[in-house]
Amino acid sequence: MLLTIPNVLSKDAVARLRGQIDAATWVDGNVTSGRQSAMAKHNLQLPEESAAARAAGNLILDALEKAPLFIAAALPLKIFPPLFNRYGVGQTFGMHVDNALRVRQDGQFRIRADLSATLFLSEPEDYDGGELIIEDTYGGHSVKLAAGDMVLYPSSSLHRVEPVTRGARVASFFWIQSMVRETAQRALLFDMDMAIQQLSTQVGIDHPAVISLTGNYHNLLRMWADI
Ligand code: NI
Repeated sequence: MLLTIPNVLSKDAVARLRGQIDAATWVDGNVTSGRQSAMAKHNLQLPEESAAARAAGNLILDALEKAPLFIAAALPLKIFPPLFNRYGVGQTFGMHVDNALRVRQDGQFRIRADLSATLFLSEPEDYDGGELIIEDTYGGHSVKLAAGDMVLYPSSSLHRVEPVTRGARVASFFWIQSMVRETAQRALLFDMDMAIQQLSTQVGIDHPAVISLTGNYHNLLRMWADI
């Protein structure tokens, strides 16, 4: 499941966040790469432990708590502290799959990456190229979103970032360990959640069918979730 979540950050929040990170010191992006992706990755990144990354990352974590679509789709157990990358002209990230396990540099935080997220922090008209291409069973999907919008996709997907040919592409990226490990189970729960919400606006939240389906949703979650 590939899902776009609009307006995770308002335009004001994006501007504030860009103010925090643009002035910071960026380093070679390979600091977080596995061996295979290090060969494919050509970009800049904010050091994970830098004050700017921590502050901007916390702003994103706060916003995610207030994003019901993200909560419904990801069913998050743990979110890796958001990281930040910048692709200038000629920079790219070739086809790769994200590492299954992630440990923060201080060793205090580790997760299994079930879902990958990219939160766009540049407006699409400010750069050419830089599309995120995500492969699934239906082929490649090209993703280039407005600043403040986010895409969520299974970490098992092959993906790449097209070379930037004008301007710069700044984004935040991070991983989520879901309470529901299996992508297919998570997708079923999400579809059911959305359908129940739609139904309840039409027939009322106290309709017996809505109550029954809500019960089913929670019983499936009980069966599949680990916390
Ligand atoms: Ni990746």
